[in-house]
Amino acid sequence: MPTNSPSSTRPSIAVLVSGNGSNLQALIDATHSGKLDANIVLVLSNKESAFALERAKSANIPTVCLPHKAFATREAFDAQVVAELRQRNVEWVVFAGFMRLITNVLLDAYTHRILNLHPSLLPAFPGANAIEQTLAYGVKVTGCTVHLVTAEMDAGPIVEQFVVPVETTDTVETLAQRIHTAEHQLLVRCVQAAVSGRLRIETRGPRQIVQWSTHDATSL
Ligand code: GRF
Repeated sequence: MPTNSPSSTRPSIAVLVSGNGSNLQALIDATHSGKLDANIVLVLSNKESAFALERAKSANIPTVCLPHKAFATREAFDAQVVAELRQRNVEWVVFAGFMRLITNVLLDAYTHRILNLHPSLLPAFPGANAIEQTLAYGVKVTGCTVHLVTAEMDAGPIVEQFVVPVETTDTVETLAQRIHTAEHQLLVRCVQAAVSGRLRIETRGPRQIVQWSTHDATSL
């Protein structure tokens, strides 16, 4: 069984979190099952109370907590994040419920190497409370998106999306539960594609588009 050993040659990733960490757990489980060929070398949170930190500790993954209020500026916070990432030779960064806007300090250090997960079919319902916005609008299908992080919030090149139908009886809780289940699969699939070099960025007009080098939509 693959291990999460830092001594192996698998790509090193860091997962940034602010909350429960069910998506972090999906990544940890995937490193154990072999679906994700990477080492999670750091879990970094901006919130001390994030349960994700407990999940990391249970999996013997190093953790760092940087309470953002302790930093005078967003740039100062990001500079410390970059220092923590570089210290561990992190190659890819995954935002899994990381609720912070970032600056060019982090973006420039990891250009096109930061993945974010969002609980809607972007560009619909960006920002906070996406699931509440989804139900309030009355759309019939929603889902989740993994995209590359750019300066504009929830607007970077889309890596992949999964569709989740909205049921007439859905509450925020029931819809969130189904979206989370989809997210756990989507995130593992996208992180594996990223670390294995399958993602290509192509410029199309004003936008950058992500292409998968060998995209098998049934391989989940
Ligand atoms: C996910 O729904 C993700 O899309 C959003 O925050 C949530 C994190 O959930 N950005 P968890 O902490 O991984 O359980």
